[in-house]
Amino acid sequence: MFAKETYIHRRQQLKETLKSGLLLFLGNNECGMNYADNTYHFRQDSTFLYFFGSDYAGLAAVIDIDENREIIFGDELTIDDIVWMGTQPTISEKSERVGISETLPMKELRNYLERAAAKGQSIHYLPPYRGDHKLWLQELLGIHPTEQAAKSSVPLIRAIVEQRSYKSAEEIAQIEEAVNTSVEMHVTAMRMARPGIKESEIAAAVTEVAMRNGGNLSFPVIATINGQTLHNHCHSNVLKEGQLFLLDAGAENGMHYAGDLTSTMPVSTQFTERQKIVYDINHRAYTAAVNALKPGVPFRDVHMIAVTEIAKGMKELGLLKGDPAEAARVGAYALFMPCGLGHMMGLDVHDMENLGEVWVGYDGQPKSTQFGFKSLRLARKLEPGFVFTVEPGIYFIPELIDKWRAEKMFTDFICYDKLDAWKDFGGIRNEEDYLITADGARRLGNHKPSSAEEIEAERNR
Ligand code: GLY
Ligand code: MN
Ligand code: MN
Repeated sequence: MFAKETYIHRRQQLKETLKSGLLLFLGNNECGMNYADNTYHFRQDSTFLYFFGSDYAGLAAVIDIDENREIIFGDELTIDDIVWMGTQPTISEKSERVGISETLPMKELRNYLERAAAKGQSIHYLPPYRGDHKLWLQELLGIHPTEQAAKSSVPLIRAIVEQRSYKSAEEIAQIEEAVNTSVEMHVTAMRMARPGIKESEIAAAVTEVAMRNGGNLSFPVIATINGQTLHNHCHSNVLKEGQLFLLDAGAENGMHYAGDLTSTMPVSTQFTERQKIVYDINHRAYTAAVNALKPGVPFRDVHMIAVTEIAKGMKELGLLKGDPAEAARVGAYALFMPCGLGHMMGLDVHDMENLGEVWVGYDGQPKSTQFGFKSLRLARKLEPGFVFTVEPGIYFIPELIDKWRAEKMFTDFICYDKLDAWKDFGGIRNEEDYLITADGARRLGNHKPSSAEEIEAERNR
């Protein structure tokens, strides 16, 4: 945990922004995987961690701005809890660590909210993402789960996004710790990948690195010879000579700050000629994007720089025709890169995503609904303190190629006849993590082999 002053200061800032009302925060609970007592690994809600620091299940908090009260709600452990799960600090001890002196039993939360509603106080809450929270909110506030997201508090969402988007020096140190572990995960994979090994063996090894460093995974590992499937969680294939292997994996550290990196490597010790050409095109896109990072530049423009570079490369391969910048502008590039260039990163790997991408990534401006552009999670102007990923990729997705061809999509730009020969190529992505500084940007964490030459050198050590 950070010092209690950090949490006091964060809550103070939130109160100054909201000015009035009652702010309700639900901590996460244990959640059964296949029966009640066989639970998923516990993960506290990130906003709860940000303001209340406490990494335990079964808590809720209220910031009552009108009454000038901050209260943690929770119940002390029973002797059965202690026998099975071990002991914990008391609710008061958990609260005092973050500068809160008032605690109440959980059963008082509903009464407190009912009294607040009766007094006409506005009750602000965040959109829930867990089923138990939806039922809990229904019990606490009488709002049906289908209406909860729409009735959640936009002022609270905006105030939290305004705080969590700007990472402090102590947060950046935590993120760099997570990124460094993530780099170790990737170097481990680069040293392991070879013909005959299973995807699952590499997934297990990188998970071991994350846990050995005192944290866990920041999202489920993608360790695959089918990198064209963007979030591919199957690990059952055996790597074969001549294939590409893609690892998208990151650690969260003990404080739950995330890293998120992707590497693509040849299963053989070197890329084939064709793989190297595509890798180099993608790396050009990555480098062009990184060179454009500085305060004031909209990340949408950085995305356009990267996808224009990809469109240029596809033209060099004879897969696109016409003006690459125009192919990028109209969205024809999305056949090769149907996702966005990056996303905010912090306590969540896609930071604050549940608070709404329009607020987190678009500063309230509407998002495109067009295929490709709709998956760009971050478009707003970059500002010092923002931490995010840069992750261009080139993907040959046979089903997407066939669909676009049948629908005659962008026939002015796409050379469908040439694409049949590329349907078995797979996918390439390079992903690294950046901080916007006062006058530019800084890559976070230790260096990860990034260019084709660096990856081959690591593979041949
Ligand atoms: N790990 C998922 C992503 O890169 O966004
Ligand atoms: Mn990412
Ligand atoms: Mn990733």
